[in-house]
Amino acid sequence: MDNNFSLSTARSMDTSDPLYNLRKRFNIPMFKGKEAIYFTGNSLGLQLKNHSIYLHQELKDWQAIGVDGHFNAKTPWFDYHKCLEKSTSTIVGAKKKEVVTMNGLSVNLHLLLTSFYQPTKQSYKILCEPHLFPSDLYILQSQIKLKGYNPKDALVFLPSDENGVVAEDDIYKCIEDNKDQLAMIFIGGVNYYTGQVFNLEKITALGHKYDILVGFDLAHAAGNIELKLHEWEVDFAAWCSYKYLNSGPGNVSTIFVHEHQIKKNPFRLSGWWGHTFKNRFSLQTKFKPIKTAEGWQLSNAPIFGMSIYRASLDLFDEIGMKKIIHKRINLSRYLEQAIHLFNQKSTDVKMKIITPGSAENRGGQLSFLISKRGKEVYTFLRKSGVYVDWRDPNVMRLAVAPLYNSFEDIARFYNLLLNAFEK
Ligand SMILES: Cc1ncc(COP(=O)(O)O)c(C=O)c1O
Repeated sequence: MDNNFSLSTARSMDTSDPLYNLRKRFNIPMFKGKEAIYFTGNSLGLQLKNHSIYLHQELKDWQAIGVDGHFNAKTPWFDYHKCLEKSTSTIVGAKKKEVVTMNGLSVNLHLLLTSFYQPTKQSYKILCEPHLFPSDLYILQSQIKLKGYNPKDALVFLPSDENGVVAEDDIYKCIEDNKDQLAMIFIGGVNYYTGQVFNLEKITALGHKYDILVGFDLAHAAGNIELKLHEWEVDFAAWCSYKYLNSGPGNVSTIFVHEHQIKKNPFRLSGWWGHTFKNRFSLQTKFKPIKTAEGWQLSNAPIFGMSIYRASLDLFDEIGMKKIIHKRINLSRYLEQAIHLFNQKSTDVKMKIITPGSAENRGGQLSFLISKRGKEVYTFLRKSGVYVDWRDPNVMRLAVAPLYNSFEDIARFYNLLLNAFEK
C-alpha cells in the first residue's frame, strides 16, 4: 500500500491522466525552487498563464478609442457580460438567459434575497445550514431585519453533529417540521467548512412541494460538482468566480434566476444596466427590466475583471465539467487513501475526515479533524510549501482542483506528513 504513494507510482498515474498537462497552463506558486503543493483552490484558484489574453485587448481598445469602446471595442463593453453567458450557464446547468455575471458574491446574494425573500406573518422563516459562511449569516440576518423580523426567531438552522455535518434525513424532516412557517430555504451547495455536498435536487423538490422558495450559495460548488439548476428548478443561486473557476482575487460573481421566477418579474433593486438595452442610455422615467437574469444588473460591467474570468472560462469550455469531475473523483479518492494509510502508520496524530460521502458524491474539498497537535501539523505543512487551510478549533481543509493538482501533489503531501509525524 505504501508503494501506492511513492513518487514514481504517483508520476505514472499522472502520465496516464489525460488532464495532467493542463497543469502547465497555470502559474503554480514556487517554494524553495520547486512547485508548491497547492490545496487551497477552494479558497482562491490559481492563475492561468494566459490570464491576460482578453485583458490586453480591452486595455488596447480603451487606449485607442476611449468611450467608444462601449459600442466599438472588439467585444463591445455595452453587453460584455453576454460573452460569459454560455460558459457560466453550462457549468451550472442553466439556460443562457438565466445567468448574468456582475458584482461580488455577497452583493449579489443581497440583491437576490431582496427579490425572493418576501416574508408574510405566517411564512417568514429561512432554513439554513449550521456553520454557514459568515457573510451568508450576516446577509440573512440583515435581510430578515430589513423586512421587519427578528433573526433569532426567523433563522432555522439544520441540526448537525458536533462537526457541523448534517444527516440527509434531518434536512427533509426539518423542512417538513417547519413547512408552514418557512418562506425560504437558503443553503450552500457545498458547505465551506465541512465540504458536505447537499442534495440540491431533492431539497428543491421538497421545498417546492410546500411553496417554499429555494436558493443556494454555490461558491464552493460551481466548477466543482455537477449542477443542473434549470432542470432541478432551483429558484435562484449565486457563486463567485475566484475559487474553482480561477478568475482571480475578489473577481465577479454570477447569479442564476430560474426562468419561472424571471417571468414573475419580482421586485428588485434596480439600476440602469438592468434596463432594456434599446434605451438604456436615453432619459427614462420608468425602469423596464431586461426580461432575463440581466434585469438584475445595476452598474456597468467591470470589464477588466470579467476579461480575466473569460480567459479562465475558455478552459472550462475546452475541457467540460464531465472530465473535470471524473479527475476530481480520482484525486479525492487517492487523497482519502493517503489519509487512511497515514492514520494506520501514525500512533500519535490522527486525521479524521469529517466530509461525508465517498469520492463520487463529495466535491474537491476534504475537511479533517486533527486529534492532537493540529496547529503543529498545519504550521509544519505551511512551512514545507503545502497550501492548506486551518479553521479553529481543529479543522484543516484541503481541496483538489483537477485542472492543476496532480497525483504527485498528493503523494508528496503524504510523504511529508509521514516523515514528520509517524511515531
Ligand atoms: C460560501 C461563501 N459565501 C460567500 C462568500 C463571500 O464572497 P465575497 O467576498 O466574494 O462576497 C464566500 C467567500 O469565500 C464563501 O466562501
